[in-house]
Amino acid sequence: MKILQDKVALVTGGARGIGRAICQELADAGASIAVADIMRESAEQTAKEFRENGVAARAYAANVAIMSEADEMIKAVLQDFGRIDILVNNAGITRDNLIMRMKEDEWDSVIAVNLKGTFNCLKAATRPMMKARQGRIVNIASIVGVMGNPGQANYSASKAGVIGLTKSAAKELASRQINVNAVAPGYIQTEMTDKLSEEARQAFLAHIPLGRPGQAEDVARVVRFLAGPESDYITGQTINIDGGMVM
Ligand code: NAI
Repeated sequence: MKILQDKVALVTGGARGIGRAICQELADAGASIAVADIMRESAEQTAKEFRENGVAARAYAANVAIMSEADEMIKAVLQDFGRIDILVNNAGITRDNLIMRMKEDEWDSVIAVNLKGTFNCLKAATRPMMKARQGRIVNIASIVGVMGNPGQANYSASKAGVIGLTKSAAKELASRQINVNAVAPGYIQTEMTDKLSEEARQAFLAHIPLGRPGQAEDVARVVRFLAGPESDYITGQTINIDGGMVM
């Protein structure tokens, strides 16, 4: 039997990038997959491709930054699958700028999606998980939430917030056997980081002891570990997946 057989996993921002790789990894471990994304068509396309490979997968269009949309998404998943065992809060955006130039909207939108969006989904998924007296929540933070990064005050604050939220939620929910952990990826090759300048790319690479950027699968494997029974005794932790950038 596969380790996530009969489990239902909801992955936000699951249409592409790291989220999609997480969907794949959890599906390979036997889970049914709810692919949630603000990009409806991409989510539907991703879910369709999973179904074509024999995975029970469905798409959900939702903007995680809006609490009512997060609530509706959780309700729809419960209606379709009857349960939610694993929530992966992966949806995230960047709007980089130096503090002196950062516009109010650049600050607000990043906090809204990355931090409030994580809270919204976590809160909505907690109700059915508490009833079931079991659950796994994995939040995708970032190494810059630990070490900071010039030009990313909004993003690093949002991700540091996710790490704090992870710890508080872990303490609140532990008595119901709901484990809440985070991962902090370093420099991972995706469409998000394809936007980086060559200079920024080289600056990151110079600080990675393992000497290569990470792949989405490097993150997905750790999420699978945190979503499954091998990590039963781990909660409130943030695991860096960064090729050794931060030690
Ligand atoms: P990506 O931009 O390729 O994918 C993000 C996905 O989230 C997209 O499908 C997008 O449509 C979706 N999304 C954005 N806003 C949303 C919203 N309001 N509601 C629902 N879905 C929304 O990004 P990538 O690189 O795959 O990043 C995934 C996560 O990993 C993000 O939280 C990001 O901050 C984090 N991360 C990425 C790193 C990297 O180097 N790529 C490093 C550290 C963390």
